[in-house]
Amino acid sequence: MSKAQLDWANLGFAFHRTDYNIRYTWRDGAWDEGVLTSDDIIPLPMAATCLHYGQECFEGLKAFETKSGDVVVFRVEENARRMIHTCERIMMETVPEEMFVDAVLRVVDANRRFVPPYGTGAALYIRPLLLGTTAAVALQPAIDYLFLVFTTPVGPYFKAGFKPVHLIVEDTADRAAPKGVGNIKVGGNYAAGMRASMNAKKLGFADVLYLDPREKRYVDEAGPANFFGITRDGQYVTPDSESILPSITNKSLITLAEGMELRPERRLIEIEEVFDFAEAGCCGTAAVITPIGSITYRNRKMVYCAEDEPGRICTELYEALTAIQIGDAPDPFGWVRVVPELQEATRRSP
Ligand SMILES: Cc1ncc(COP(=O)(O)O)c(C=O)c1O
Repeated sequence: MSKAQLDWANLGFAFHRTDYNIRYTWRDGAWDEGVLTSDDIIPLPMAATCLHYGQECFEGLKAFETKSGDVVVFRVEENARRMIHTCERIMMETVPEEMFVDAVLRVVDANRRFVPPYGTGAALYIRPLLLGTTAAVALQPAIDYLFLVFTTPVGPYFKAGFKPVHLIVEDTADRAAPKGVGNIKVGGNYAAGMRASMNAKKLGFADVLYLDPREKRYVDEAGPANFFGITRDGQYVTPDSESILPSITNKSLITLAEGMELRPERRLIEIEEVFDFAEAGCCGTAAVITPIGSITYRNRKMVYCAEDEPGRICTELYEALTAIQIGDAPDPFGWVRVVPELQEATRRSP
């Protein structure tokens, strides 16, 4: 199958239509077998619970082409488990881990020609989405669900790629409530953060750094990514907070940081502490690791990358993570999974 003709080096983080998405329906208490389709419109009752009562959740992960030409996905089981956790919190039918993984492998295989070539720095972004589809006007969980997975080839989330970005602390609005749903991946969290994020962009910042919603005293997370700091004595620290999404990238960096003797620690991080870090970064599937060039907090600015160059530890972490993802380094933790090539016939389910 020949590769799609796209400008792989300049993709940006945008939606490009690919050949297939995959859909599973929950009806009468069971999931169906799932079907691949080229149709990118979904039929939905106007009273569906996902539209009115927020019974909607999603995930995000990536597939890469390795040097040997394999297509691999990164830590797909972790995304499956996180979605189960999300579903339990907002009373949606769960997608079993095995079905989630199978859906991802099938849809990536079907869109193989859109997996950016090895060495381009781009990836195939995978977006699993679960919707409550029962028509209802009373507040209650849906009894019908649509689980779908679509893909799109993407470049870096922040325009500059692996270059420092500038953040502004948001301390006038909350993205999430304490004990709310900030630690699960539901659409409402992103709507809640949109105004702050757009305001930051208008002011020339890449995004917002949120503080904890209760006291506005501790660092929470950075737009759609977790935050980490590197202390002056070389320790990897990242916020311990119940209102941030538990990032799979961050979890991976913590493992890598252990091997690099960075003594990783999850703990409360006072906002004042950012003025003392040697380096700081954002991490996530989309952001990968994006070094933070500066943080502006009220009328103060902490600059980490005076020359606009990423710091040494951010660079080492970035290289260690991406080398595993694209198969340039061994995968001692079993994080990548090869996408099997299915027969054309199997791929086109009825
Ligand atoms: C709010 C938020 N925080 C953090 C992350 C990073 O999580 P992950 O590394 O699992 O992509 C994401 C992206 O999914 C996000 O949307």
